[in-house]
Amino acid sequence: MANRYLLISDIDGTLLGDDDALGEFAEWYIQRRDWLRLVYNSGRLFHSVLDSVESTGLPEPDAIIGGVGTQIRCLPSRTPIDGWLDDCDEWQPLRICSVLAQYHELELQPAEFLSDFKISYYAEDAPIELIKELRHSLKAAGCDVELVYSSDRDLDVLPRGVNKGSAAAFLASQWSFTDDRVIVSGDTGNDLAMFENGFRGIVVGNAHRELKRLNSALTFQAKCTHAAGVLEGLSHWLTSHTNDAENPTHPQTTSCP
Ligand code: GLC
Repeated sequence: MANRYLLISDIDGTLLGDDDALGEFAEWYIQRRDWLRLVYNSGRLFHSVLDSVESTGLPEPDAIIGGVGTQIRCLPSRTPIDGWLDDCDEWQPLRICSVLAQYHELELQPAEFLSDFKISYYAEDAPIELIKELRHSLKAAGCDVELVYSSDRDLDVLPRGVNKGSAAAFLASQWSFTDDRVIVSGDTGNDLAMFENGFRGIVVGNAHRELKRLNSALTFQAKCTHAAGVLEGLSHWLTSHTNDAENPTHPQTTSCP
């Protein structure tokens, strides 16, 4: 049974947001640690996620992906995984900041949210045309980057090809999980890329419309919110993927608390 499944989940608004439901999730997960690996995948940087693990009911994961895919660190060692972001020669943070400084619609996020490979702005209710224009201006200046706009507010500028989805796929492959054994969960647009890799997806009931509109056989739209939605989705995927005789340990949650 070892490492049969991998759950890669966002935390804010997904596992966090309802303490009672998180308690149920933690209790369920801790009894299944021998066959389920757990990874948190957050827009926040590694140390901020670690603080939440220490100060909330989040169970300790096997790894944390932080900064919208820009950091992958295994626990408990906290060591960065080998081979990720090795090839970022084209990343030009100074040039990116200078191009984007021309846009009054953008406000640089506080320094604690920025890192060597993540430059983030606030851009309230930015129209799609503005995001397209930013992409165009950056490209014209020789900056081929990944732009992730989410929650009608957050704009993350990342090295090309780096996002929550590519980081999740890298980790799953390093740990030799096939796509059908990986379950991802999230609530907003920075999670979207996780749903585009052939993994089993869970969108929690309180999700932003950025994820509510997903409509594919690989995406389960939970009715329950936060961690209860994740448990509902796990029940769906673990039951439909395996038969009960093979896997009698799927969550029993069928209705929202
Ligand atoms: C988190 C990060 C922020 C980022 C946002 C969306 O809130 O702290 O920097 O912009 O996620 O990815």
